[in-house]
Amino acid sequence: MLKDQDRIFTNLYGMHDRSLAGARKRGHWDGTAGILANGRDWIVDQVKASGLRGRGGAGFPTGLKWSFMPKQSDGRPSYLVVNADESEPGTCKDREIMRHDPHTLIEGCLIAGFAMGAVAGYIYIRGEYIREREALQAAIDEAYDAGLLGKNACASGYDYDLYLAHGAGAYICGEETALLESLEGKKGMPRMKPPFPAGSGLYGCPTTVNNVESIAVVPTILRRGAGWFAGFGRPNNAGTKLFGISGHVNNPCVVEEAMSIPLKELLERHCGGVRGGWKNLKAVIPGGSSVPMLNAQQCDDAIMDFDWLREQRSGLGTAAVIVMDQSTDVIKAIWRLSKFYKHESCGQCTPCREGTGWMMRVMDRLVRGEAELEEIDMLVSVTKQVEGHTICALGDAAAWPIQGLVRQFREEIEDRIKARKTGRMGAMAAE
Ligand SMILES: Cc1cc2nc3c(=O)[nH]c(=O)nc-3n(C[C@H](O)[C@H](O)[C@H](O)COP(=O)(O)O)c2cc1C
Ligand code: SF4
Repeated sequence: MLKDQDRIFTNLYGMHDRSLAGARKRGHWDGTAGILANGRDWIVDQVKASGLRGRGGAGFPTGLKWSFMPKQSDGRPSYLVVNADESEPGTCKDREIMRHDPHTLIEGCLIAGFAMGAVAGYIYIRGEYIREREALQAAIDEAYDAGLLGKNACASGYDYDLYLAHGAGAYICGEETALLESLEGKKGMPRMKPPFPAGSGLYGCPTTVNNVESIAVVPTILRRGAGWFAGFGRPNNAGTKLFGISGHVNNPCVVEEAMSIPLKELLERHCGGVRGGWKNLKAVIPGGSSVPMLNAQQCDDAIMDFDWLREQRSGLGTAAVIVMDQSTDVIKAIWRLSKFYKHESCGQCTPCREGTGWMMRVMDRLVRGEAELEEIDMLVSVTKQVEGHTICALGDAAAWPIQGLVRQFREEIEDRIKARKTGRMGAMAAE
């Protein structure tokens, strides 16, 4: 188990003072000017050496991403943009950082902005996070008043402004290029890549978009050393990580743990176990709604990290663990996600716009068993026509949960279709 002294987020539950004075007592903003004095390259190298991979879902190495930013300006300013949209169903980890430990993020924004030569940072927060926005703005104001942000930030000689912008509650605005469009005041629709944001991002200027957690862990990594962070988790899966566990556990929670913790340990140590005991487990979606589910047998040995879950054809995603016990109608659960993706598709590309509706309507009938057995394969083939054929990854996110369902619970789907045909109601959907 992760020891208390190794936790980065020491006020995750809001038990202590979240103000600047409180944050300082817990070690934040300690020696920030000294960290900046080591220079841009040193910071990027340390972040690379720590093995930190992006916490927003895709797991791209953070230091490497920063190194794509231009070393010398061609006249355009550079920007850091922090993705605080957090709209993935089941995901509520960044919220805890922003409302209870906001200075971890603000200090991270200064250091990350400096390391990529940014003149300013923008935090884009989802519209529904009203209290979090207030907490974050109050903390930004405190940081300005204390000279930690703005002109000559932390007396380092570096000028850096930090702005907080709020969205209006669209899931697609969490996709990094849709987020940039929205930040520019336009409709949040993803851009074609390339160009990538490091070449042309916000207002056509070099930009790096990072998740809240990816940025908030950086100051502690630099203070405690890249080796310390790299010491947690399996190789290529370094660090401590926030997990958000919801669904059929006795105590749903957000908790910081070492990467690569076994799923069983995570649930039993921090969540009071699965409702009705481990044997009552039916399935787990390990990384937010977009990744394929694991069945109970896979859960027995599941290791919560990027590589293990990818080997199982699932993913760590946002590390939002959705636990489903034996009482769950898994077909209906995935149908609900299909409805979500259909609603949130921006409609720009045909496979996603049409495919999400198609998939939802077939799922709708599968829930009721009103389908032919052949339609299961037909549905899988539709998911394959959407997956990888769209501008952004929302298409994949809509396809994967269905593929996972068919892979893990095909018998249950078939059973329901047969039950409907024979009038055997026991296998029908839960109302
Ligand atoms: C539909 C969609 C929604 C997304 N929503 C979020 C989000 O709410 N927060 C987030 O950090 N990343 C989200 N992402 C991932 C971002 O595009 C981007 O990869 C991430 O912010 C990069 O940060 P990281 O490298 O620190 O992980 C989303 C991606 C897609 C395709
Ligand atoms: S994949 Fe869907 S959400 Fe993404 S750009 Fe295309 S239509 Fe929009």
